[in-house]
Amino acid sequence: MANSSHQATNQSGSSAKGGSPFQEDVSLLSALRERRSSRALSDDPVEDDLIVELIEAARWAPSSGNLQPWRFLIVRKPERLKLLHEALARGNAWMKKAPILVVVCANPTDDHIRDEKPYYLFDCGLAVENLILRATSLGLVAHPTIGWDEGIVKRNLDIPDPVRVVTIVAVAHPGNVEEMDEDLQRREKSPRARKPLEEIACWDEWTLPVTLPEC
Ligand SMILES: Cc1cc2nc3c(=O)[nH]c(=O)nc-3n(C[C@H](O)[C@H](O)[C@H](O)COP(=O)(O)O)c2cc1C
Repeated sequence: MANSSHQATNQSGSSAKGGSPFQEDVSLLSALRERRSSRALSDDPVEDDLIVELIEAARWAPSSGNLQPWRFLIVRKPERLKLLHEALARGNAWMKKAPILVVVCANPTDDHIRDEKPYYLFDCGLAVENLILRATSLGLVAHPTIGWDEGIVKRNLDIPDPVRVVTIVAVAHPGNVEEMDEDLQRREKSPRARKPLEEIACWDEWTLPVTLPEC
């Protein structure tokens, strides 16, 4: 279990005092490598001060014009979580174990639209990745999702128009994979896959794929 005496790091990134096991964060690269969208969640509570750390990490994300369109509704009361569970797609029933569901919202009019591209989604994505990486560095699972009914989420949690629900992030301490059903266990144990570098990046010209340097 996490130590609730943990204190936030400040803006310059230096650790706060306070005897926490989390003062020695794993490096950013480790967090990038170790992060995965796990569905193996513990229903142990996650301490409020850890959640505040996640939001603290999220709020330092860049945003277009520094407009910071994101709003985080942190749902932790059992009766409020139940209201959210009503909105979940069947395939996302694993989220019901999470003691915290962070509903990431934004008012689209709070951000730029450029060439018909609404940047509130992009900016929220950057903030959510900060949140997820901070969670990983603290030994927590943070799994972003879109498998839920936005209308039900908004209605049940009284989220006003024109606010949109961008994602719901399940946050939990890691759970026991062996306790999951067979299908989820298989997904959990499968290696993370990515398109190869040459398929997603090119040097200077659209047709010049990036390859790994020879070692
Ligand atoms: C915007 C977004 C929506 C997602 N929605 C869901 C979801 O509804 N349910 C789910 O189980 N996983 C969801 N995921 C997790 C992805 O399936 C996962 O990130 C992807 O398979 C890559 O695996 P990794 O994150 O472990 O590297 C979502 C991820 C993102 C970024």
